[in-house]
Amino acid sequence: MKPIEDYVVSIPDFPEPGIIFRDVTSVLQDAEGLHLAIDLMQEKLEGLDFDVVVGPESRGFIFGVPIAYNLKKPFIPIRKKGKLPRETVSAEYELEYGTATIEMHKDAIKPGQRVVIIDDLIATGGTNEAMIHLIEGLGGKVVKTVFLMELAGLHGRDRLQGYDIDSVIVYPGK
Ligand code: PRP
Ligand code: MG
Repeated sequence: MKPIEDYVVSIPDFPEPGIIFRDVTSVLQDAEGLHLAIDLMQEKLEGLDFDVVVGPESRGFIFGVPIAYNLKKPFIPIRKKGKLPRETVSAEYELEYGTATIEMHKDAIKPGQRVVIIDDLIATGGTNEAMIHLIEGLGGKVVKTVFLMELAGLHGRDRLQGYDIDSVIVYPGK
């Protein structure tokens, strides 16, 4: 079997000049790549005591649900604004241009629950920081985040100090 890195197709100058886009769809469209990605992310949780998996729309759902299912944990979706039907909590965060808002159902996390966050990629860390804000606001404790990929050159970890952040593939650049 190939190493996981070999399943990720890198597209130079997308979506704009100077950016190398790390395409997760090339991993997903290969049955072995998909298995390997889930298995390697899940291995990062071995021996960890936790109650729920939280994942952000949309790429966080792809990896979060199979891991929650395999480990027999509930899955809590964090969604983009306006999609959830019941009472929500929300957090705004910065994008490269403008801001975005994410929401989670208010009853999704119980005080004291130990939470694992799963997502495909950490870039600036803004999404993760906003998710932590929502989870902690409901009394949850974020015990770990697992990413498939990390763009270390964007220093997303710097804004997440004190949190356990783990990535299967670390790219040194942006
Ligand atoms: C992408 C990616 C991560 C986030 C990382 O999601 O899937 O969730 O950006 O960036 P950050 O570390 O700078 O916050 P995006 O918001 O593009 O939405 P998607 O998952 O629906 O594609
Ligand atoms: Mg995303």
